[in-house]
Amino acid sequence: MNGILLYCRPGYEKECAAEIQARATAMEAYGFAKVTLNSGYVVFECHSAADVDSIAKKLPLSSLIFARQMIALHARVDDMPLYDRVNPVVAACEGIEAMGELRVEMPDTNEGKELSKFCRKYTVPLRQSLRKGNHLLPKENKNRPVLHVFFITNTSVYIGYSYSFNNSPLPMGIMRLKFPSKAPSRSTLKLEEAFHTFIPADQWDRRIGGAMRAVDLGACPGGWTYQLVQRNMFVVAIDNGAMADSLMETGQVKHYEEDGFKYEPAKTTIAWTNRKLHGNKVKVPENPPVDMLVCDMLEKPERVTRLMCKWLLNAWCKEAIFNLKLPLKRRYHTLEDCLAILDKQLDDRFVIQAKHLYHDRDEVTVHVAWSNFIPEDK
Ligand SMILES: C[S@@+](CC[C@H](N)C(=O)[O-])C[C@H]1O[C@@H](n2cnc3c(N)ncnc32)[C@H](O)[C@@H]1O
Repeated sequence: MNGILLYCRPGYEKECAAEIQARATAMEAYGFAKVTLNSGYVVFECHSAADVDSIAKKLPLSSLIFARQMIALHARVDDMPLYDRVNPVVAACEGIEAMGELRVEMPDTNEGKELSKFCRKYTVPLRQSLRKGNHLLPKENKNRPVLHVFFITNTSVYIGYSYSFNNSPLPMGIMRLKFPSKAPSRSTLKLEEAFHTFIPADQWDRRIGGAMRAVDLGACPGGWTYQLVQRNMFVVAIDNGAMADSLMETGQVKHYEEDGFKYEPAKTTIAWTNRKLHGNKVKVPENPPVDMLVCDMLEKPERVTRLMCKWLLNAWCKEAIFNLKLPLKRRYHTLEDCLAILDKQLDDRFVIQAKHLYHDRDEVTVHVAWSNFIPEDK
């Protein structure tokens, strides 16, 4: 079967489909996306078998906004008898060899949740049988492709693989985080997930570390500020609402009841320096007054996007993490318009990433940084 399976948030299948259609076409891999509303997944059927592997290898999952995981499909099995769902899957794995790991998964829907207990139990006998058939290596190997068995009903599965260098290492592509009981709102998990998604763990101390300065626009009651305070940062929180007392008592937070579109950081002289980028000399700032700008204001996404561009281009901050609240209609197009504004206003001195995070609802989280503040990979 010639297809790519993408997992997404239920309700976001159309956006996920529009995105894979556009991105695959851009790499000259043609096909069409099949959508079942509220299913939590999309299948992109490719016209050519070679394109399936090429997409799985070359289209970076990290560059897809709506897909949590991306699988090259090998087979689909339907109507399995309830008393034996191991042998039909093993038989359908013919041609698959030496996978490094098995993941039995299901969509992130209520129906999917009902299958999770069965999937956990089923994994052990399936793994044993797959090893006997040499489809799976005798020991887990994180450098080899991952075999995915994705239950869409209790008798139907998609079987496919993902490359370990281009997949989510997380089951179902979902980052599960524990809600910190002292945080003033559940929103806190959105920023924590954004940190994990956009900033490599070994760079946290340099980019979101002790005594660094942050601004939080639309901060109340303080879930995002809580994350920054936990990282020992000093935070200016802007919002007309009330901040949680527990945060104000830390002495790390200054709260101003102001409009986030009008607030500006205290004037400082920005020093600019020349840097070589792709063979060209470009100017980059040395000392933006704010290390991390975060923004979760409930405002029009285009307006927030332009505000973020203003902060970054004025070098008021080194990097920014912000949420774009999506409207009920034309969600994909609205997001495309915002990303086009970022692309137009911010040149290649900036790194731009966007993701529909697991803890996001009708919003997408964007990260933009001046590239000179991102340490180079060793
Ligand atoms: C989703 S809540 C923020 C939640 C917060 N990130 C947290 O984790 O607790 C949105 C906030 O944006 C604020 N807001 C909306 N428009 C604003 C503006 N123009 N200036 C400042 N704050 C604004 C609202 O008052 C509201 O508190």
